[in-house]
Amino acid sequence: MKENTKNKNIIRSYVKREGRLTSSQRYALNNYWKKHGVNLSAENLDLKSLYKRRGPFILDIGVGTGDSTLNHAQKHPENNYLAIEVHRPGIGQLLNKIELNNLTNIKISNHDVIDVLQNQIPYRSVNQIFIFFSDPWPKMKHQKRRLINKQLIGLVKEKIALHGRLHIATDWQDYANHIRNLCSSDPALINLSANKLYTSPRPVWRIETRYEARGLRLNHNVWDFCYGFNLNV
Ligand SMILES: C[S@@+](CC[C@H](N)C(=O)[O-])C[C@H]1O[C@@H](n2cnc3c(N)ncnc32)[C@H](O)[C@@H]1O
Repeated sequence: MKENTKNKNIIRSYVKREGRLTSSQRYALNNYWKKHGVNLSAENLDLKSLYKRRGPFILDIGVGTGDSTLNHAQKHPENNYLAIEVHRPGIGQLLNKIELNNLTNIKISNHDVIDVLQNQIPYRSVNQIFIFFSDPWPKMKHQKRRLINKQLIGLVKEKIALHGRLHIATDWQDYANHIRNLCSSDPALINLSANKLYTSPRPVWRIETRYEARGLRLNHNVWDFCYGFNLNV
């Protein structure tokens, strides 16, 4: 496995708070992980054998309780999803929802997305990447923890497939500015906003999650970004 998993000094985009697992989350983790979970390994995933078919491959990064992943996966049974989340209570909830809805097109990883991208995601394999309401780390001294940074975008460019798309949403203006500056300075990223403004209209398929609802209650705006890729750069 590559460096990142071993290096204790690495800056993570989350703080590991295990929190309390409810009995239903614990049940799901004990009983359904084997069926839907993907453990961290040093090898690239064999997507065809993981999903038992070929299909468009979607990464949903930092899914929380997975409501948005679940909704998209139900509407697009033809897609294969990998939901990545570090906190186990959310994973327990998503496992229960996958079972309840008999879904076979969502797998879950319980590791830092950086490790998963570096070690397990095959080159040019991902058709869409969703990063919705990633923690904004608003305090100046914490901004180095922001998930959307040069390292992540570098990995995304390696793993995205031809004609792939990156969708991002945030309710923090300062994080939105950071994302715009980062992505617009990278010649490989093509802002797909039709009117050449830096944000895109909200995709009709992006449902309102708990995190977005909280932002709206606080009178925050929401910024959506959609990028294509110039893979020749
Ligand atoms: C604010 S929540 C948003 C959840 C969900 N996307 C939504 O819109 O409701 C951000 C999530 O990203 C997860 N996260 C943060 N850094 C991560 C990382 N490096 N790898 C995987 N998950 C991460 C956090 O645990 C948290 O659940």
